[in-house]
Amino acid sequence: MKTTVTRRTALAFGAAAAASTIMRPGIGRAAAPFEQPPLPYAEDALAPDISARTVALHYGKHHKGYFTKLNELVAGTKYADLSLEDVVVQSHKDGELAIFNQAAQGWNHNFYWEQFKGGPAKPEGDLAARIESGFGHMGGLVEEFGAAADAVFGTGWVWLVMDGEKVALRSYQDAGNPLQDGLKSLVGIDVWEHAYYLDYENLRAKHVTRVLNNRVNWVAVAERMA
Ligand SMILES: [Fe+2]
Repeated sequence: MKTTVTRRTALAFGAAAAASTIMRPGIGRAAAPFEQPPLPYAEDALAPDISARTVALHYGKHHKGYFTKLNELVAGTKYADLSLEDVVVQSHKDGELAIFNQAAQGWNHNFYWEQFKGGPAKPEGDLAARIESGFGHMGGLVEEFGAAADAVFGTGWVWLVMDGEKVALRSYQDAGNPLQDGLKSLVGIDVWEHAYYLDYENLRAKHVTRVLNNRVNWVAVAERMA
């Protein structure tokens, strides 16, 4: 479904997020030039689980770079008139891998930073029940999440998604995300080395465990699920 927005009247992602705890990365934003949303907290806000140095590099260099390259690639193309989310979906359908990679990484990182805003908060209510149904308990989800992260060869992402009425894990290589499969994203963890290597060296699953337990705002996750 195409997201309809009015150029310049659409809220910037950061402002929209500030107005609501429900995260909708890329939705409601104008088309190209695509802009990297502001980091929704200080660079040291996630320490010690994610250091200020990692955030500075990850947000300030890697995330920013995806938007710079995306704008170069879509200039003068049909993608320049789409929302960021629609660029991800359409470029994937079209097999335009270069554009997909930059657009998806832009969207993925919008999601990644936003999910920590207001955290930590534990899963409650219907979300907690679905986690128990799918993984036994929160610890089971965290353990399976870490194992899935370790199983990604090279670069990629692991996502908690809604699959029908269930919550489930999906792993993707490189810039992949659940948008390409029409699934709703609930939590997205970056397993590229730039996300964790400065703080955890090769211990990828340790990073995943710390972030899930100590940083994710699971109350906001429940709102996304609803
Ligand atoms: Fe990243």
